[in-house]
Amino acid sequence: MSTLITSIGELVTNAPGAGAWAGAGTAGFAALTDAALVIDGGTIAWTGQAAKAPAADERVDAAGRVVLPGFVDSHAHLIFAGERGAEFAARMAGVPYSAGGIRSTVAATRAASVAELRANLRGLAAEMLAQGITTFECKSGYGLTVADEARSVALAAEVTPEVTYLGAHVVPPEFESDPAGYVDLARGPMLQACAPHARWVDVFCERGAFDADQARAVLSAGRAAGLQPRVHANQLGPGPGVQVAAEAGAASADHCTYLSDADVDALATSGMVATLLPGVEFSTRQPYPDARRLLDAGVTVAIATDCNPGSCFTSSMSFCVALGVRDMRMTTREAIWAATAGGARALRRDDVGHLGVGARADLIMLNAPSHAYLAYRPGVPLVAAVWRGGRLAWPA
Ligand code: NIG
Ligand code: FE
Repeated sequence: MSTLITSIGELVTNAPGAGAWAGAGTAGFAALTDAALVIDGGTIAWTGQAAKAPAADERVDAAGRVVLPGFVDSHAHLIFAGERGAEFAARMAGVPYSAGGIRSTVAATRAASVAELRANLRGLAAEMLAQGITTFECKSGYGLTVADEARSVALAAEVTPEVTYLGAHVVPPEFESDPAGYVDLARGPMLQACAPHARWVDVFCERGAFDADQARAVLSAGRAAGLQPRVHANQLGPGPGVQVAAEAGAASADHCTYLSDADVDALATSGMVATLLPGVEFSTRQPYPDARRLLDAGVTVAIATDCNPGSCFTSSMSFCVALGVRDMRMTTREAIWAATAGGARALRRDDVGHLGVGARADLIMLNAPSHAYLAYRPGVPLVAAVWRGGRLAWPA
């Protein structure tokens, strides 16, 4: 079964032929006007000028609208119960964000049934799909016992292959006086129980969470168990996170809000992705990360939602793109690239995040003539249709 989508006003491909995998920023942003594309089975079979398009079994008229790759959300925490709306309201009244709030979600998550956690997870995944996210990463980290972390990663694996073990999110209350004991658990039996369901290991390396040595210990054990590292780094203040991530060969250092020149150098020379999560700064009233500084230094930048009940409860990549453009000094092209190809890089995936021939046919059609509308019309639901793996996935 093949599908021709034609009369595309602007087709954003990020196609590898245009250098998508060679550099950061807009190096790979390639867009065609008056374009068409052909999906065959689950993959992109052809892209080019509409007038030259081959025939297909089925034809969709885009009527001048923009088509772009599905968003790749490389950072989300979707396995939890409860909500923290009152904590958000208090923040907006002046109470600062701290890592400690995570513990209230841990209590609610431990108390929830698998069915409740699954329903919440599936609801959020559906919300993401309707907003154009076709690939997402999902972390554990609100269970923090062997059994609760194991059920979290098992649930995540039901909905995505990009599962991250985040046993080292915070030290849970019962280990308050024995953080070293918790690190031993997180790098030992808890990791062993979770590794079969996960691809990634993550640590919240931050004051109030885990220090550099603790983070190294968990990441190296994770690597020995076959997981690939990624790190929550430099979110709440300057710190060792980015350097620890670089040493560990992490795919991505995430947050990157407070960076020294040495951190920017480490990101640029290691080739690690800097995953920026501007919804967090919006929701915590912190200063935004400086994407411009990173891009100008040659760092590969991704944008992700960080959807979680505490620091940022949005599942809207469009919102994060708009923040990237408005508040992180990114061009519209850089922000779209970061939310698609950048996210794919952060997940070490070359089959998503672009619409080159052979890519997975994950794409979004917007009720808009150009990609810039995602920032130009912030907060407006522009997604007209989403294809995932070649099938129209939304509207269902
Ligand atoms: O990415 N930084 C650590 N973890 C989440 C916040 C989780 C929470 O507040 O519940 C984050 O911001
Ligand atoms: Fe996070």
